[in-house]
Amino acid sequence: MIRLDKYLAEAGVGTRSQVKKAIRDGHVKVNGEIAKHADMRVDENADTVTFDDEDVWFSEFVYFMLNKPQGYISASRGWDPNVLDLIAEPYRNLFPVGRLDKDTEGLLLISNDGQLAHELLSPKKMIEKEYYTEVDIPLTPEDIERIETGIEWHGESYRPARYKKISDHAMTLTVVEGKYHEIKRMIEACGSKVTYLKRIRMKNLILDETLKPGEYRFLTEAEIADLKAV
Ligand code: URA
Repeated sequence: MIRLDKYLAEAGVGTRSQVKKAIRDGHVKVNGEIAKHADMRVDENADTVTFDDEDVWFSEFVYFMLNKPQGYISASRGWDPNVLDLIAEPYRNLFPVGRLDKDTEGLLLISNDGQLAHELLSPKKMIEKEYYTEVDIPLTPEDIERIETGIEWHGESYRPARYKKISDHAMTLTVVEGKYHEIKRMIEACGSKVTYLKRIRMKNLILDETLKPGEYRFLTEAEIADLKAV
């Protein structure tokens, strides 16, 4: 629920004072009834708001950071169990910005901002994604060099990734593509296998480690501004 004047202002009808005047002057209806008070509450998902009998669509963008648990599919609704089922907030048109495999955990941005999603997912933008990765067989120095210089594997090429050792079986890998099974395929090309994968960063958005798998929170203003910065 949101104040009517905020709804109208966010939807681009006018400034807060302009929309207040428009309400006073009887231009605005909620569910067919002339609205009398700027501070009345409307349900942005259920109520119909009109200005001079034209529908006004609420278009506020929302941004959630989800710590995706294993076992959930990153897709729009229709695939079960779905990451969107984890978001209890009543916003329309949410979608996951990018995909994590069903068995991958970690940072997943959920939003309804198609423009930002496009920017973050465009291969040309080379947005960094960092993964905490565990493997069954330790990588050799030659494997690490291949990872750092780029890999060809089963007809697909993978751009150089940044490798940071944590232990013989654990590392972080930073990639700038978003290819299907990218990390798993690169590790497979080295004769090893990913046993655990968790995204910990996308661009400058770092997974909030206080979020348990399945938990989410709104992004802060600063995080949104950083994501949008070129
Ligand atoms: N690379 C993978 O192999 N899987 C993911 O979920 C993300 C990157």
